[in-house]
Amino acid sequence: MILTTGGAGYIGSHTVVELLNANFEVLIVDDLSNSKKEVIDRIEQITGKRPIFQQIDLKDKQKTFELFQKYKNIEAIIHFAASKAVGESVENPLKYYENNIGSLLNVMLAMKEFGVANFVFSSSCTVYGQPEKLPVTEQTEKKPAESPYGNTKMISEDILKDYAVANKNFKAIALRYFNPIGAHPSGLIGELPNGVPTNLVPYVTQTACGLRSKLSIFGNDYNTPDGSCIRDYINVVDLAEAHVVAIKRLLECKNKSNFEFFNIGTGEGVSVLEIVNTFEKVNKQKLNYEIVSRRAGDIEKIWAETSYANTELGWKAKKSLNETLISAWNWEQNYRAIQK
Ligand code: UD1
Repeated sequence: MILTTGGAGYIGSHTVVELLNANFEVLIVDDLSNSKKEVIDRIEQITGKRPIFQQIDLKDKQKTFELFQKYKNIEAIIHFAASKAVGESVENPLKYYENNIGSLLNVMLAMKEFGVANFVFSSSCTVYGQPEKLPVTEQTEKKPAESPYGNTKMISEDILKDYAVANKNFKAIALRYFNPIGAHPSGLIGELPNGVPTNLVPYVTQTACGLRSKLSIFGNDYNTPDGSCIRDYINVVDLAEAHVVAIKRLLECKNKSNFEFFNIGTGEGVSVLEIVNTFEKVNKQKLNYEIVSRRAGDIEKIWAETSYANTELGWKAKKSLNETLISAWNWEQNYRAIQK
């Protein structure tokens, strides 16, 4: 059985679908602080299998231990459960340290107590800051985090690294996600941002459906071909598949060391204006947008060198940007239709 913490969330739910499709038994633990219980029904609709669901807050150590006591057949954990809003983390850093570090420690303490060895962690390209050389490889130097959110990812990787040195039975893989976007092709699961989205693609889809009047593009004076920032946008289903591959690698003992980390992106840099133009073209939508000043804390450009993940993990992003932006719009429309 694979325990997915935060398994009802955006990346978690897509990963649970891929795990069930690969015939793993799945236990979802989620506190539903940024997700909805209906997602479990949707996962069942897509896969024909219902994952076990437990609503638990992993900041509660006793509840976390009781969970491991109850489910003795947990073989591996994928730890998604974390808060992820960069701006909120600047305003409320303690929430981020308590949620993201507190939960990680409780899960790892329970793993130690109950002898569970395999761990996959949701890390982020935020650990690289603004790199001097692009694309970034796994060897690119890490930079001090720009936000408490980013710092929780840095600290979490350090915790995994230190524990892996001290405990030879423990095996961890950190997946450094670039920018996950899009939704499941069924249109049944996708991103469900709380309130006004801060990420680009949910803001784009909410503007297209009339929920937001205008998209702001943060800056067109960057040192990039069209002046807007560049990111590596990875389809969430491709990203979900990387987790299945990582789990198999650990369970089949194919890992080369007991703490590994991989860049999970497409290897392609895409600008904000390219996202907007592609979205308009493939979905035949006109977006109302304006260029505004730069957003504090944004880096200019980043994209991944993915050859290590390609050769070593045997994983590669497959979906095109067109397909991904069609899936994001399909999900937004379906979701709004259900809400009515
Ligand atoms: C940020 C974090 C990343 C985290 C992710 C999760 C950093 C450097 N990056 O990614 O680690 O995993 O959030 O939420 O901390 N944009 C607009 N208008 C908008 C929204 C965004 O122009 O309304 C632009 C941004 O300026 C940026 C790009 O779109 O250039 C992507 O932004 P966003 O989706 O927020 O992701 P990141 O900031 O790259």
